[in-house]
Amino acid sequence: MNKAKFWDRIADRYSKQPVANEAAYQKKLEVTRSYFTPDMRVVEIGCGTGSTAIAHSPYVEHIHAYDVSEKMLEIARGKAEAADIKNVTFEQSSVEDLEIPDGSVDAVMAHSILHLLEDKDAAIGQIHRMLKPGGLFISSTVCLGDKMWYLQPIIAIGSFFGFLPMVKFLNRKEFVSSIEDGGFAIDHEWVPEKGGAVFLVAKKSD
Ligand SMILES: C[S@@+](CC[C@H](N)C(=O)[O-])C[C@H]1O[C@@H](n2cnc3c(N)ncnc32)[C@H](O)[C@@H]1O
Repeated sequence: MNKAKFWDRIADRYSKQPVANEAAYQKKLEVTRSYFTPDMRVVEIGCGTGSTAIAHSPYVEHIHAYDVSEKMLEIARGKAEAADIKNVTFEQSSVEDLEIPDGSVDAVMAHSILHLLEDKDAAIGQIHRMLKPGGLFISSTVCLGDKMWYLQPIIAIGSFFGFLPMVKFLNRKEFVSSIEDGGFAIDHEWVPEKGGAVFLVAKKSD
């Protein structure tokens, strides 16, 4: 299956959608910035149309943002150019095919992406591998398995016919444990609203 097809098709619409919970989004940006320093080199996976990378760009040295969808990236590059942002690079790659040297990155952001992967644990392993010792893993991930498990058949049918992406119904406790088991210590955990995405800042601990 072409992983980019669904996202290429909806990229324009996605870029025009307002953020679902603006106050929570701003708070996540603020918490993330409290960890950032101007010398940091950051990677973002599944960056979409680049809003988060662009918002953080003044606070770090460089952000290398990746997405599987070239259409999402076109929009992201356009936004960065319009805002005259020079320290964010947008590059096409699926999470599974990322080629980033071991221990070379200060922080990795993965927002609204881990629940879309066939193998999130492999992605957590990749993130761990590319981070420097003590490096940061920052993620906002929706855990639909706790409250919205009943949507599973609808999403499975939608995904089969290409109307919806493949979605894993993660459970918050299991998700947090998988990050800890992947060699991270959770430093900050926040769920802004009942059944909402789990926002985590974790540090590479081994
Ligand atoms: C729900 S959007 C989130 C975008 C952005 N992170 C945000 O928070 O708005 C998911 C993004 O992940 C990308 N994506 C999906 N599967 C991917 C994969 N296997 N590798 C890389 N990117 C992927 C999609 O193209 C899309 O841009």
